[in-house]
Amino acid sequence: MEICRSSVCLLTILFFLNVTNYVTSATLVSSDKTTKADIASPVIYQVRDGFYSLSNSSINRATSEHFQIIWGNKDTTGSVNLEFIQGNLANLESIRLFYIEKIGLGDIGRTQDPAITGTYKTNIYIALTGLDPSFDDWAYMGVDKDSFGFIMMMPGAMRVDPPSWVVPHELAHAFIFHNGGVVPYAWNEALSNFLRNEYLYSDYYSYGGTIYGPTSDFFAPYILNSEVHFPSAKNWYDSWPIFLYIYENPDYIIGLGKQALLKIMTYRKEETTYFKAITAVTHVSIKEILGGMARRMVTMDFKAQKYYLQHLDELLKIIGNREKIYTTLKNENDGWMVVPANKAPQQAGYNIIPLTIPLNTASITVNFQGTSTDKNADWRVSIVTVTKSNNTINLHGDEKGVYLVVVATPDFIPFIDIDKDGITYPYKVQVTTR
Ligand SMILES: *[C@@H]1O[C@H](CO)[C@@H](O)[C@H](O)[C@H]1NC(C)=O
Ligand SMILES: *[C@@H]1O[C@H](CO)[C@@H](O)[C@H](O)[C@H]1NC(C)=O
Repeated sequence: MEICRSSVCLLTILFFLNVTNYVTSATLVSSDKTTKADIASPVIYQVRDGFYSLSNSSINRATSEHFQIIWGNKDTTGSVNLEFIQGNLANLESIRLFYIEKIGLGDIGRTQDPAITGTYKTNIYIALTGLDPSFDDWAYMGVDKDSFGFIMMMPGAMRVDPPSWVVPHELAHAFIFHNGGVVPYAWNEALSNFLRNEYLYSDYYSYGGTIYGPTSDFFAPYILNSEVHFPSAKNWYDSWPIFLYIYENPDYIIGLGKQALLKIMTYRKEETTYFKAITAVTHVSIKEILGGMARRMVTMDFKAQKYYLQHLDELLKIIGNREKIYTTLKNENDGWMVVPANKAPQQAGYNIIPLTIPLNTASITVNFQGTSTDKNADWRVSIVTVTKSNNTINLHGDEKGVYLVVVATPDFIPFIDIDKDGITYPYKVQVTTR
């Protein structure tokens, strides 16, 4: 089967058994630069406070249309001044607008508590300023007694220019909460990091007329532990490439895309796992999603590819990381190559295996065989070619052009606690070239 669809691709790749194939596409989706419109809103966002009386004279308050910043009069950091407050209000407004206008999330001004009507500003408390110190922390989103999300942050987490990366993460939590979907605890962090990253890639990531976007965050712990199930303690904040894949839908799978991610985030039914919720909402097999996502990780083939590759480049400069990010199979005497036990993927975990074959090879054939005894065992296996003229990974001599990508996609994906490891799904392959 011919899979070289690119004119610069050197290889014809044949495959059989469970092996699917893939050629990386180099298309960088251009950023969506729509002019921000001022929305004339007839709704007045009122001021309220779930913790401190509005008449308490030791409490300072400053507001913008949709936010109220609240701080005490004993700032211990020396950084809370008018410019700091106004700058944060401006950044909060910009991030809010992004989540509503570009992601399509619902507003955060109302509570689900039926006893409270009206629309309210979202409260941001500044820690280390003389407020009740038992609530002080670096940064978190909480829910007050009236079921409004609020954010507590130390001044160090609230840089104005360039805008802090902490604020969009915490505000994403507030949006997820107010949009009412059942998002499991461990997945909430990955979703917030995904939403933050979309903001960073946009021109809403700006301050005082300077646009800092597009840029991107990265998911180093995820790719350094790619064989581990997710979200696990080793990767939970960073397990957001699955959301990138669903949202960007680079393989044009019916059921995925921007609306699909919105529906997932706002899905109100509690399923046994979020993987199950994703399938319930999209009607797309989780195996197809994981397979498609994993093979794109070879070249970070998503719209912010350029930035992910810069991060990857930095990561690979650190000794020991290459062996974590890439998997080397063990040669057996019988011509098969076996995945090492410590690299065998757990459910939804994947391996990227650079194939050291001559680049003038006419064809490559991969014979894949799962060796798990688990009756639910299944895998998605792809051959990924990286062409020279585009989509290159010229990272420190890493000019290998062909990769095998294996992701464990068992028929049954149980809930696994973030502190636990899942069972592994070992396999072996034969690679022949002509
Ligand atoms: C790489 O791909 C992009 C988008 O398909 C194209 O615009 C660009 O010219 C290509 N670059 C090279 C060197 O082929
Ligand atoms: C006013 O706020 C301070 C915290 O800055 C708190 O210690 C005090 O109890 C509050 N007073 C009232 C009357 O709520």
